[in-house]
Amino acid sequence: MPLVGTAEMIEAADGRGIGAFNVITVEHAEAIADGATRAGLPVIMQISENAVAFHDGRLEPIAAATAAIARACDVNVALHLDHVTDPRLWEIAPQHGFGSVMIDQSKLPYEDNIAETGRAVEFLNSRGLWVESELGQVGGKEGDTPLSAHAPGARTNPLEAIDYVAQTGVDALAVAVGSSHAMTTRDAALDIDLIAALRTAVGVPLVLHGSSGVPDVELRRAVRAGMVKINIGTALNIAYTNAIRDYLGENPDTVDPRKYVTPAREAMATTVAHFLTLLANPRANPSENPHENAHENA
Ligand code: G3H
Ligand code: ZN
Repeated sequence: MPLVGTAEMIEAADGRGIGAFNVITVEHAEAIADGATRAGLPVIMQISENAVAFHDGRLEPIAAATAAIARACDVNVALHLDHVTDPRLWEIAPQHGFGSVMIDQSKLPYEDNIAETGRAVEFLNSRGLWVESELGQVGGKEGDTPLSAHAPGARTNPLEAIDYVAQTGVDALAVAVGSSHAMTTRDAALDIDLIAALRTAVGVPLVLHGSSGVPDVELRRAVRAGMVKINIGTALNIAYTNAIRDYLGENPDTVDPRKYVTPAREAMATTVAHFLTLLANPRANPSENPHENAHENA
């Protein structure tokens, strides 16, 4: 199938959450495609600036592989470039098949964040790309000094959000509402009232970052309150690494990576299918699903 624009996918969400999963290696992209196909649901594959740095700063190889895997998929897939701070990266997004970019200038002072983000919006929108950016700080990013998700100032202010969206022209807003990046336990408590207030205040879709640390029941509540794009990365890495650890624990003499990467990729695909199904059914009764929270503290 051809790649679908992120804007188009988000517009069609209609009260459901759309899962956006981080691609680090080719196996991540394969697992996301597999999980989305099993769930029969659309999905966003996203490559972060950090993942590009991991690939020696080269976007092209991992973007090309991800796009090829996405195009071979039977469900709709959108391609997103995530957490971009360097203009040299967002400037090349259009030529690599991305339908959207997240501009992350959340560490800059407010006025500078607006100026830098506005510049990117102008460039990317004129080339047909959808732009997300962050207001408030979702902590836990690589290289960050720890910032509690509950620290004052860590939350997005609805009045500031109205002004920010109007001044930058962004198409979607990543907000700080209690989640934090790279959590390996699933016990983040979200401020659901704040999500609802932000939803009412701004006219653009809301994005939840650091969703791996949010329990299933809270993810459902967040989608019901107005979150649309749900970013998930660490949960895949937990599934992947645990499967490899288990395999090598039982087979310490294995050297062929295909032996241990196969169950690891499979574990990521199962995780993707779980989250997509959950997000697409925010009003389902969890007690009806015995597998609900099966990935809790995974
Ligand atoms: O932008 C990507 C995410 O916010 C993923 O966060 O790794 O904590 O799930 P996570
Ligand atoms: Zn994030």
